[in-house]
Amino acid sequence: MSQKKIIFSGVQPSGNLTLGNYLGAILNWIPLQEEYNCIYSIVDLHALTVRQVPAELRKKTRSLLALYIACGLDPEKNVLFVQSHNSAHAELAWILNCFTYTGELSRMTQFKEKAQKHADNINAGLFTYPVLMAADILLYQADLVPVGEDQKQHLEITRDIAQRFNNIYGDVFTIPEPYIPKVGARIMSLQNPEKKMSKSDENPNSYISLLDKPDVIMSKFRRAVTDSEAIVRYDEENKPGISNLMSIYSSITGKSYGDIEKEFEGLGYGDFKTAVGQTVAETLRPIQEKHDQLMSDKAYLDNIMKDGAQRAEGLSYRTLRKVYKKLGLVPRS
Ligand code: TRP
Repeated sequence: MSQKKIIFSGVQPSGNLTLGNYLGAILNWIPLQEEYNCIYSIVDLHALTVRQVPAELRKKTRSLLALYIACGLDPEKNVLFVQSHNSAHAELAWILNCFTYTGELSRMTQFKEKAQKHADNINAGLFTYPVLMAADILLYQADLVPVGEDQKQHLEITRDIAQRFNNIYGDVFTIPEPYIPKVGARIMSLQNPEKKMSKSDENPNSYISLLDKPDVIMSKFRRAVTDSEAIVRYDEENKPGISNLMSIYSSITGKSYGDIEKEFEGLGYGDFKTAVGQTVAETLRPIQEKHDQLMSDKAYLDNIMKDGAQRAEGLSYRTLRKVYKKLGLVPRS
């Protein structure tokens, strides 16, 4: 790879990607593919920290890769791969486990939340989840990691682990920084506009899945929570529901809030919701078509995965060898 900076990010193959992921993240990744060396992993090992149905996990992993490509991520310009295809992740995670304190892991907000949610399965993997994430990032000497609010703490612990290791063994790992995109819509739940739209929300009416069919999209927007003023006007504080719909409409059409207010002057929320729904459905249609086409071409997807895994392995191998050597593990001849 050239001297471009390295960006690494991972997404779990659980649940469907949402309109929030698309408008808030993936769309911003497309221009990055020119400026940076971007590596995106489908982190199936992370998904194992909660019980998965094997056939579904398999399908979702492929579907996520197909969606990435359908959204415009070029598998040649970016490294797209499945985490479990590169065994270096699990290997480095073990090593880093020995450089991470149980005290710091028990302070992780996400662990505390998940432990509450899955009280019957508080497994050690759930506890060391951030260590595997640190391995993901550090293996590739990533400079930048695009992270949402909920993952900042995990990036922080990644930096701490890397620094701790470097302090003992010299400059082995690049210390990654958070990458904050210049623009990027923060799309909220359609049912509770105070909360971020999330693929793991229990109420499917709260999010638009990138694979939702037009009738489902229309019905979800029709049910979206608004207010009683009946004027399409941007006011995040007093009209969070309508403001969220405006922000969705604006990110897709490029229209300003002022333009949108004019466009719907004198019209009710019903008309506005219909317009937003139609725009979203039209944006997603070609993505869904491409996704379905890729899903039916097993050989093509397999090839992309194989190529991605090889490139990922090649990039991470050097880091892993160096770590083993520094630690005093005898090299295999
Ligand atoms: N923990 C991240 C999430 O749930 C996913 C993830 C795994 C990740 N490894 C990563 C994100 C490395 C960024 C970098 O969203």
